[in-house]
Amino acid sequence: MDPSAAQTPAPQDPASPPPVPTPAVSQPAEDDARAFAAVEKHHAGMLKRLDALVSALTHAVQAHDTVAEHDAHEVLVEWCETELVPHALAEEGPLYGGAGGTPEGRLLVAGMLSEHQVIVGLVERLRAAHGVEAAVAAGAIGQIFALHLQKENGLLMPFIMDSPGLSLADAVAGLHELVGEAHVHGLHDRTVPDVPPANG
Ligand SMILES: [Fe+2]
Ligand SMILES: [Fe+2]
Repeated sequence: MDPSAAQTPAPQDPASPPPVPTPAVSQPAEDDARAFAAVEKHHAGMLKRLDALVSALTHAVQAHDTVAEHDAHEVLVEWCETELVPHALAEEGPLYGGAGGTPEGRLLVAGMLSEHQVIVGLVERLRAAHGVEAAVAAGAIGQIFALHLQKENGLLMPFIMDSPGLSLADAVAGLHELVGEAHVHGLHDRTVPDVPPANG
């Protein structure tokens, strides 16, 4: 056998195209995963802050400490007005709109929108309330928000990520109220340091 024959590459079959390398994870899927992590982290920070503010108000009411109650009430109402309600409103744009426009997501989004309305109503009640009534309203906001977040993290966002026509990354891109300081599209995140949300 001629030894040089073994080193000659086999002629390529002109009928078969060269193999195309397939990435393990597509860029849109990576962007969606980044968006999911950003919103989930923002949610966790919000819940932690809300729990602390509700707890401060409840303890002040229990202790009949009117000065501490006044301060805790003021801080909680302000946080609801500047963080909680704007977060809900921002979600009602592309995030809820995209999923709500699909037959499969319509009912879930309708239910979540009604929870937003309940939360906004409780914030109004909290604003005018004092003492035990304020503590009850604050506790209800904390409980309903926690349940609502479970649905957003565990049902709504996974549904959007699994829906071929929807993009979680596009739905939350640029919405500081949803993703905090994170950037959810591609290269930006590799140059921007990960900053914790300002609200803790
Ligand atoms: Fe929400
Ligand atoms: Fe949310």
